[in-house]
Amino acid sequence: MTALTPLTFTATDIDALATATGRVAVIVAPDGKMGQAARRANRLTKGAIARFVASEGFEKIKMGQVTTLAWPVGMTAEALDILCLPRNPSVAEARKAGATLAKLRGGKTMLFAADGLRRVAEVSFGLVMRDYTFSDHKSDAETHDTAITVMCANPDDASTDAAPLLAIAEGAFMTRDLTNEPANVLTTTEFADRLAEMSALGLEVEVLEEADLEKLGMRTLLCVGQGSDSPSKVVVMQWNGGKKGEAPLALVGKGVVFDTGGISLKPGAGMEDMTMDMGGAGVVAGTMRALALRKAKANVVGLVGLVENMPSGNAVRPGDVITSMKGDTVEVINTDAEGRLVLCDVMWYAQERFSPAGMVDLATLTGAIIIGLGHENAGVFSNNDDFCKSFLKAAEAEGEGAWRMPLGKAYDALLKSRIADMKNIGGRAAGSVTAAQFLQRFVKDETPWIHLDIAGVASVKSATSLAPAGATGWGVMALNRLVADAYETE
Ligand code: BES
Ligand code: MN
Ligand code: ZN
Repeated sequence: MTALTPLTFTATDIDALATATGRVAVIVAPDGKMGQAARRANRLTKGAIARFVASEGFEKIKMGQVTTLAWPVGMTAEALDILCLPRNPSVAEARKAGATLAKLRGGKTMLFAADGLRRVAEVSFGLVMRDYTFSDHKSDAETHDTAITVMCANPDDASTDAAPLLAIAEGAFMTRDLTNEPANVLTTTEFADRLAEMSALGLEVEVLEEADLEKLGMRTLLCVGQGSDSPSKVVVMQWNGGKKGEAPLALVGKGVVFDTGGISLKPGAGMEDMTMDMGGAGVVAGTMRALALRKAKANVVGLVGLVENMPSGNAVRPGDVITSMKGDTVEVINTDAEGRLVLCDVMWYAQERFSPAGMVDLATLTGAIIIGLGHENAGVFSNNDDFCKSFLKAAEAEGEGAWRMPLGKAYDALLKSRIADMKNIGGRAAGSVTAAQFLQRFVKDETPWIHLDIAGVASVKSATSLAPAGATGWGVMALNRLVADAYETE
């Protein structure tokens, strides 16, 4: 797994500034005020920071931005980064500033003199999150494991505050690694093995094999994987950090390790992107990891359906009728609408086995959600306004885009089949909504439920505020906060 950049918090030692190697970063407030470390760097550089602060350049610099002095005189560092940040930044400003430092760092050692800055832990979180690189398959990988030292007023407090944030970062890194991994490496078996390893963190992990799934009657899930040589699996991860016997939150993820479309084969151009079609399962895994690492005081169960959607002589055909675990029959019109076939069985199983207090499913479910919302927001569908609001609030607080979409009887009617209980597609119109309607048929009335269509946000072609191009880990921060705010309330 991609390791977090090693971080050390130490007390401010202004003498270290002169002799540090790599990069040195200091803070100047928007009004030009400097702490003791920045003042020392200013003195070492014979007033270079003060000259910059007095210049037109400083007036133009935006908050959170950095100006770099290369090879500053009086210091051994190869660069002095002057970060403009108020003493008491918002969480978003602090994280963004950290991300800015990560982008500059480029794998070099960094001494960050935070002086009396508040929210040092959030700056560090932003730094670590943005410092991710997926280089497992690069033979000339840059070394990104050089250390960062954060000098601050209260290093013990900072490192205590940073611990739960670094747990979230580790969770997000797991999600990103899984989502970035090519499908020849991340087979269903490899995926299950990586989840099973999380039992070392105190999670109870079970792997259900094809024979188990057959016995449970998960025919819609199994039909998706039946054309692949990789065996279909369901993995159940339980974190019981809450009250004994209290109903858990259930997180359910679509884990299609590769989606060719099956017999309804996708066009060749861009098909390689379908290595990320297990992104929902990746978010479930990463969230469970974060919860376990920070020992969340809540009961949460994560379930993922791991399958590969391939065409073959055994593959499910358009027109086949399959019986779900629930007992409802589905006419498979398009084998490329496979995610809902996987999720419906896992969601039903989650409710039958755990009677969850709430259920959130995550899936790279439809291309249509990208047409509707682009790469800025995930589509949010829910049968429960309060539950939905608490999720939207958590996502907003974490800066993860999420936008509520409608559900309704008229959309549901589009799933009517002539020969079975339902079809697996509705048609071109409102493709993301009919997909959600399909899922809702497998949600019990008493289960508060949220469906997150993350097709547009799980993996992106250009960098976001906290992630480089590729897998983002979208959702780990929001779900972690949802658990903290709604399930760890005492
Ligand atoms: N995995 C895809 C959805 C997807 C598309 C995810 C683009 C990420 C990026 C899903 O299984 C799919 O193929 N959906 C079809 C549904 C259609 C056949 C009703 C789609 O969106 O075209
Ligand atoms: Mn598909
Ligand atoms: Zn898919």
